[in-house]
Amino acid sequence: MYWLLNSSIGRKLIMSITGVCLVLFLLFHMSMNLVLVFSAEAYDMICEFLGANWYAVVATLGLAGLAVLHIAYGTWLTLQNKQARGADKYASSNKTKTEWAAKNMYVLGLIICLGLVIHLWNFWYKMQFAELLHLPDAVSEGSGLVIALFSCPAYSVIYLAWLAAIWFHLTHGIWSAFQTLGLNGRTWYPRLKIISNIVATIIMIGFAVVPVWFTIIGLFN
Ligand code: HEM
Repeated sequence: MYWLLNSSIGRKLIMSITGVCLVLFLLFHMSMNLVLVFSAEAYDMICEFLGANWYAVVATLGLAGLAVLHIAYGTWLTLQNKQARGADKYASSNKTKTEWAAKNMYVLGLIICLGLVIHLWNFWYKMQFAELLHLPDAVSEGSGLVIALFSCPAYSVIYLAWLAAIWFHLTHGIWSAFQTLGLNGRTWYPRLKIISNIVATIIMIGFAVVPVWFTIIGLFN
């Protein structure tokens, strides 16, 4: 336990494991969202099952715990790297051909957090929090809420920009997690790059379908 907290590789391991769990959540969340494109009824049934009940609250708390660990350790590692690089920061980043996403992981993470606050306010607050506490803002039909929000093109643009930040964060993050978990070496380096790009792109396109679809429908109605 001491090792996990106090060594650089231990901290990276926590980042990787929490990151992989968050990617699994994203794959699940994205698949669930896609149901809405085919059937609002089916989507509302899933929301009812996963939304305003205390089992779902336990899952939400688990998810929040993963996110908090990921952000806290990300901050810790970033500060540690900054200290280690010291005044050489700019010289070294010019010399090495580090990718843009790799150099900006923390800033991308901050943009994702900001988007997440807006996102949770848009949906989770009304569909889980307000409903459980019987507040006047509560909404029981998730489909109506999602369709109404994305009938406003400005919201879709904000969500698409947010998804672009998530895409960059994931392309480097997934690859980096594989490396930390031991899948490295010359043969695996290019393969892992491709796998990370494919997974990040599937997640981004899957999420983008919902805002784009309902904005188009909204424009023609
Ligand atoms: C445009 C695509 C998206 C749509 C339409 C969407 C829709 C929703 C909806 C309707 C809920 C409320 C569900 C409920 O409480 O029953 C929700 C919750 C949530 N969403 Fe999204 N979402 C999208 C993208 C994302 C992304 C990209 C992330 C992460 C970066 C994310 C993270 C979350 C989280 C953490 C919750 C709370 C989950 C919980 O209650 O445990 N969502 N989303």
